[in-house]
Amino acid sequence: MQQTFDSAVASVWAAAWDRGEVEALEALATPDYIRISKGSGKSMSLEQLQQDIREVRQAFPDLATTVDAVVVDGDTAAIFWTSTGTHRASFMGVPPTGRRVQTRGSNFVTMESGRIKQETVTWDSSELLGSLGIRHLGDALAEAGTGVVVDSLSGEPDPEIMKTFNRQFVTGVTVVTTTEGETPKGLAVNAYASVSLEPPLVMVCIQKTSSTYPALFASTHLGINILSNRQQGTVSTFASKAADKFAETDWHAGPNGSPLLDGSSAALEAEIRERFQAKTHTIFICRVRHAEVTDAAPMVYQAGRFYDSEGLSPL
Ligand SMILES: Cc1cc2nc3c(=O)[nH]c(=O)nc-3n(C[C@H](O)[C@H](O)[C@H](O)COP(=O)(O)O)c2cc1C
Repeated sequence: MQQTFDSAVASVWAAAWDRGEVEALEALATPDYIRISKGSGKSMSLEQLQQDIREVRQAFPDLATTVDAVVVDGDTAAIFWTSTGTHRASFMGVPPTGRRVQTRGSNFVTMESGRIKQETVTWDSSELLGSLGIRHLGDALAEAGTGVVVDSLSGEPDPEIMKTFNRQFVTGVTVVTTTEGETPKGLAVNAYASVSLEPPLVMVCIQKTSSTYPALFASTHLGINILSNRQQGTVSTFASKAADKFAETDWHAGPNGSPLLDGSSAALEAEIRERFQAKTHTIFICRVRHAEVTDAAPMVYQAGRFYDSEGLSPL
C-alpha cells in the first residue's frame, strides 16, 4: 500500500507539475477532492488546482519537482516535495524576472480507498513569489475574520466612500521615472510618502496596469520628481498614456540613470529595495541615493484639481 501510494504520488506529481498533464491528478483524487491552503485558509476544488498548475507552469515552464518523502499512516499521509523553476512569464501580476527559484512544501492528506479526499498544504502560489524575494501584504489582504487578530468592528466601507475620503486628502504630485533599455519612462503619482530619514527611505504605490510598471518592476533604481507650479503641462503628459512622454520634457540622468525632470521642485534617485504585492498595486520601498532640491514652489493636488502653492495663505 505504502509502495503503491508512493509511486503513484511520484508519477502523478511529475505528470501534472513537470509536464502539465493535469488530468493525471484525477486518478489520485476522489471526485469531491478539496485542497486547503494552510496560509490563507482558502480551499479549492480539483479543477481549480488544475488551473493553478497551468498558471504556475506557464510562468515557470521548466518546473522540476522531486517528491522527497511520503509518510503513510493508515488513511492519512504526508507528502514532502521540492520544486525548482525559472520565472519566464508574468505570474500573479509580476512581470518575468528570469530568476531561478526553489520552493518546498508539504501536503497532509486524508485518503479514501487509496485516493486523496482532502489535503492541507503548507504552500500556495504566492510562496513562489516569496521565493523570488517578492513579498505579499499577507494579513492586510486577508478576508475579514481570517487574520490573526480578530477585529470586533470588522466591516469595510464601500469603495465609493473610500474615493470621497481620499478626495479630502491634499498632496503634491510626483512623476516616477525609470528607463527601459535606453528609453525613459514615467507616470504621475501622488501615492508618495517619506518612510524614514535614517535610513533615507521613501515609498511609491503603482498600479500594475500602468504601462510604466513592467520597466519599473525590473529596474534597480527609480526617480521621483516633485512637480513645481510651473509644470502643469508635465503633469498632464505623465498622467496620460502618450507614447513618448519625454519628447517635450527636458531631463537629466541621476547617477544611476533615472530620469530627473528639469524644472521640478525637487528630485531624487533611489534604489528599489522591496516590491510588496498588494493585488492591483505594488508598493516600492526605496533607499534614496541622490537628491536635488530647488526653490521652485511645489504644485498642490486635491480632488482632481491642481493648485499653485504660492497662492496659499497660512492659517
Ligand atoms: C494627480 C495624479 C495622481 C496619480 N497618482 C497615481 C499613483 O499614485 N499611482 C499610480 O499608479 N497612478 C497614479 N496616477 C495615474 C497615472 O499617472 C496614469 O494612470 C498614467 O496614465 C499611467 O501612465 P502609464 O500607463 O503610461 O504608466 C495619478 C494620476 C494623477 C493625475
